[in-house]
Amino acid sequence: MTITLIASVGENGVIGADGDLAWRNSDDLRRFRKLTLGHPVLMGRRTFESIGRPLPDRQNIVLTRAPRWSADGAEVAHSIPEALELVGERDLFVIGGGVVYAETIDLADRLEITHIEQDLPGDTHFPAIPPAGWERIRVDHRDGFSWVSYRRRPEPVSDLRTLLAQLQPELHRGEYVYCTVETVPSGDDPVVTVTEAEGVTLVLPREQADQLGMVGVFPCAWITLRVPSSLHAVGLTAAVATALSRHDISCNIIAGYHHDHLFVPADRSADAVAALHALSHSSP
Ligand SMILES: NC(=O)c1ccc[n+]([C@@H]2O[C@H](COP(=O)([O-])OP(=O)(O)OC[C@H]3O[C@@H](n4cnc5c(N)ncnc54)[C@H](OP(=O)(O)O)[C@@H]3O)[C@@H](O)[C@H]2O)c1
Repeated sequence: MTITLIASVGENGVIGADGDLAWRNSDDLRRFRKLTLGHPVLMGRRTFESIGRPLPDRQNIVLTRAPRWSADGAEVAHSIPEALELVGERDLFVIGGGVVYAETIDLADRLEITHIEQDLPGDTHFPAIPPAGWERIRVDHRDGFSWVSYRRRPEPVSDLRTLLAQLQPELHRGEYVYCTVETVPSGDDPVVTVTEAEGVTLVLPREQADQLGMVGVFPCAWITLRVPSSLHAVGLTAAVATALSRHDISCNIIAGYHHDHLFVPADRSADAVAALHALSHSSP
């Protein structure tokens, strides 16, 4: 079973006003229907009453604490565990409102959010979506709003054996170079920026450096370790650098918040990836 929260949210987090939707758009309603059709949908009693009828071709489950509440075409649950029991192993969409989103976001695997590019007047909000907990996996820009799909980030790993077993090295396309500049040129989007007293170091695609007339050094390949490494992990960087040094491969390692990134000589990229796979598979 996967649990997906689906909502349309203003820049200020507003989803509802006076018991009604804070924003309406026919394309968005069509997408909502397409995604939820055939699946169980879970909603709070107030959202059900604001829609005014069960959504067709979906199992409608309504949460209420009122013991005798009922409505034609709706199944009633008096708690979230009771609602999940009604769903069984099927994929569930939670369709609101504010109270029910807040109560279920910690159980959710996915979020389908329509981000509306304006503040909306209203009184009901979607809970915060912390970037540390959620990864944007698809963004579809439309006129005045975007459809964004989120997936829950896996728990960060700090145990060295688990980290090594899950390295998943991924080689990015193309060649990269290190450059130094006094300030980052506007419109430039380097992979890495390090600001030092002496100037700024950038790692950027070679073509971009060439276009900007920058002199690049250390032509390199960029490898991302897809393991969700915790910032408290001990030994990952040392293990990776040691494994590569056994093959005479130098590397620069940048620890990002979500993943680690390696820069190795461009002509040794395939050997580096092979060495990292071997390190991962040799981990007990
Ligand atoms: N923009 C969007 O995508 C979107 C989507 C949906 C809704 N909305 C808007 O959101 C607003 C409604 O949201 P809301 O926060 O006011 O209400 P809501 O979440 O729809 O419903 C809250 C009600 O659900 C029941 N409930 C909640 N948690 C429960 C639990 N754990 N166990 C049993 N019952 C539980 C309670 O009903 P009882 O009071 O009966 O006990 C509670 O009063 C409306 O303005 C609506 O238009 C917007």
